[in-house]
Amino acid sequence: MSEIRFDGRVAVVTGAGGGLGRTYAVMMGARGAKVVVNDLGGKADGTGSGTSMADEVVEEIKSAGGQAVANYDSVSTPEGGEGIIGAALDAFGKVDIVVNNAGILRDRTFAKLAPEDLDAVMAVHLKGGFFVSQPAFRSMKENGYGRFVFAASGAGIFGNFGQTNYGAAKMGLVGLSNVLAVEGAKYGIKSNVIAPVARTRLTEELLGPLAEHLGPEHITPLVTYLCSEECQHTHEIFDCGGGRYARIFIGLAPGWTSPKGEIASAEDIRDNISTIRDPDGYVIPESIADEMAALAKLMER
Ligand code: NAI
Repeated sequence: MSEIRFDGRVAVVTGAGGGLGRTYAVMMGARGAKVVVNDLGGKADGTGSGTSMADEVVEEIKSAGGQAVANYDSVSTPEGGEGIIGAALDAFGKVDIVVNNAGILRDRTFAKLAPEDLDAVMAVHLKGGFFVSQPAFRSMKENGYGRFVFAASGAGIFGNFGQTNYGAAKMGLVGLSNVLAVEGAKYGIKSNVIAPVARTRLTEELLGPLAEHLGPEHITPLVTYLCSEECQHTHEIFDCGGGRYARIFIGLAPGWTSPKGEIASAEDIRDNISTIRDPDGYVIPESIADEMAALAKLMER
């Protein structure tokens, strides 16, 4: 079987100075990609900054024979996003791959969540996804090729206690990726989302006894594949952790439709709620156009 390679490709990995991001940068670097290792170099709550985290990963890639440059900008500002993608364009002339991985945590129960905890988490995860991806998307569009991977989380997709800020930001990235997949389709740009579970500094105190089975190296192969030319999937979400890889999808159930020309009453909804909720026969829309087409068909009855 042929090896998945990245020769001639330029990859940007945000938050690549440690944890999961480091593993993506190292694996793509070892397989021929020229890599921009971005990391602000701060603490898990987003405070502080430094250059050593990104520098160490650049050294690791170079000492294994790969090519990499460091970038220390924060993903959380438009200037930072431009700076990160600018580093790829300056050093390597283009950008083919962006892994939006940088992340922080400010967990609080909803009743206690302070506005600053919301702002900080939204800025890094959700706005960071926009600020880094937009200049990359513009450049990829011109080149007719691109791969985006966004790090989301089951905390948003499924829900998790104490993470309204983080969950909302992560689910926001699903929306961003879905729209990039739709807008990027005709330019050869694919965009997918992962929901990882892995032992890193963000999670080491949360995973308990499962931690020893949840090494970050289980996530790396999925991200590497999603970043490769061989991946033709787009608009998808993948759950991964401990060696299990599984698609997560947003399905649309067949539902219940009010009789032609009639406006449903609240009682109709009550009486038909089981049918409305029944997932049997669901479809997975690839864009809102699929939903509108299904609606138009119903209107023709
Ligand atoms: P980590 O803390 O080891 O890695 C995150 C990296 O992002 C750090 O190196 C940090 O310095 C960097 N960073 C933070 N703010 C930044 C900014 N403004 N600009 C640039 N870099 C910044 O944590 P981990 O676990 O490797 O997380 C990677 C991604 O995966 C995050 O987005 C996280 O939310 C997500 N994730 C991780 C899960 C896990 O189980 N480890 C679960 C679900 C999602």
